[in-house]
Amino acid sequence: MYCVRKHLLFDKSYFIYNNQDSINIGESSQKIKYVIPLNLHTIIDWKVNEENQKLEAFALIWKGEWRFFYADQNVLLRVKEYMDGKVVYKSLDPFYTTIDKIEANQLSSIRLIQRKDNQQVFACKEMKKVIKYSQQLFQNEVETLKQLSHKNIITLIEVYESDYQYSIILEYLKGGSLNQCLRYCKLNNCEIDIIMQQILEGINYMHTNGYVHRDIKPDNILFNDLGQFSHLKIIDFGITQKLDIQEKNKDMKFGTPGYMAPEMFIQSYKISEKVDIFACGAILYQMLTGFKLIIGNTQKETMENNKIFTKNDQILSKIKQSDYKNLVALMIEEDPQKRISAKQALNYLNLIKIPSHAGSLSIQLMNHHEPVQQIPNFNKLINKQ
Ligand SMILES: Nc1ncnc2c1ncn2[C@@H]1O[C@H](COP(=O)(O)OP(=O)(O)O)[C@@H](O)[C@H]1O
Ligand SMILES: [Mg+2]
Repeated sequence: MYCVRKHLLFDKSYFIYNNQDSINIGESSQKIKYVIPLNLHTIIDWKVNEENQKLEAFALIWKGEWRFFYADQNVLLRVKEYMDGKVVYKSLDPFYTTIDKIEANQLSSIRLIQRKDNQQVFACKEMKKVIKYSQQLFQNEVETLKQLSHKNIITLIEVYESDYQYSIILEYLKGGSLNQCLRYCKLNNCEIDIIMQQILEGINYMHTNGYVHRDIKPDNILFNDLGQFSHLKIIDFGITQKLDIQEKNKDMKFGTPGYMAPEMFIQSYKISEKVDIFACGAILYQMLTGFKLIIGNTQKETMENNKIFTKNDQILSKIKQSDYKNLVALMIEEDPQKRISAKQALNYLNLIKIPSHAGSLSIQLMNHHEPVQQIPNFNKLINKQ
């Protein structure tokens, strides 16, 4: 692969070499002139031909100036594919148009965007730079997603940074969130099992790779397709932590009241992956009973109730199926040392499914081939409110 630098009197050709941590450009592999590190400090811009919309060049800042590297569109697309998600691009305009705004909250907003060349639709998560810790949240989310590849974890596509905001391009999941689903549907055991199994598989994969999510909740579980529970993904990795790295910002807020493990309120406690299991237990409880495990009339009240949460028989008695009751009890155990792991929870779920183990529940769970109940269109319902 080669590219061209255009000068006033002459053009100069260079070879492009893709390495593990950098892209090198030079007259030969021994005579490298430009090194582009593949990290989030590298900003790349793209030049597009206004008439035919084809890529013409990529640009990078070298010794304080933008330098352009011209090449054939196919070469540029290959270079781009190699850089996607590893470096930061400057502007979305050459590649995408906005279709819709899906969601906006305090920290970020999500836009639906469409690729100009193949009309594929993606989600764009944007964070304004004025928001406290936005850079850390952005870098954390991207660095984590770069390392994780699993069927139950959202896929990162590309990363952008403009003067005033960060943007993360993600695959678009059109089936709504588990939160939206729980507002309108009562799930049956078969559906609950499919959902919990997938959440735990995603979590187990993260934990095995040394990451703890820290904000597992129904809002952060999305379905690929509306009304189908067989493909779900975990999203929102802004506050995910690598377990072997020390926390930098002690005053940064982690988790969501209602799903936080009791130890998250103890200042001196060293965080462990078990906080995600507590959150999964709270989700499982909610799916089984239709009630939230920890409630409050306001966010503050929920937070206070979360702080003083203790597992008790009255809470657990709302779960009618004894197998699930035992599992939830093990997942919401206050002491993280005694709380089960994702792997153990997965094994437990599989045990529940063995026919000889228990009566009707197991038979229901075995009937996975039964069509899953169709659920209403959340977006329409939400718009009606
Ligand atoms: N890839 C996606 N596809 C569809 N909707 C998404 C996607 N990512 C996020 N959303 C929607 O936007 C909301 C907020 O996104 P999230 O990553 O959780 O940001 P925040 O950190 O602000 O909570 C999600 O709850 C979901 O409804
Ligand atoms: Mg979220």
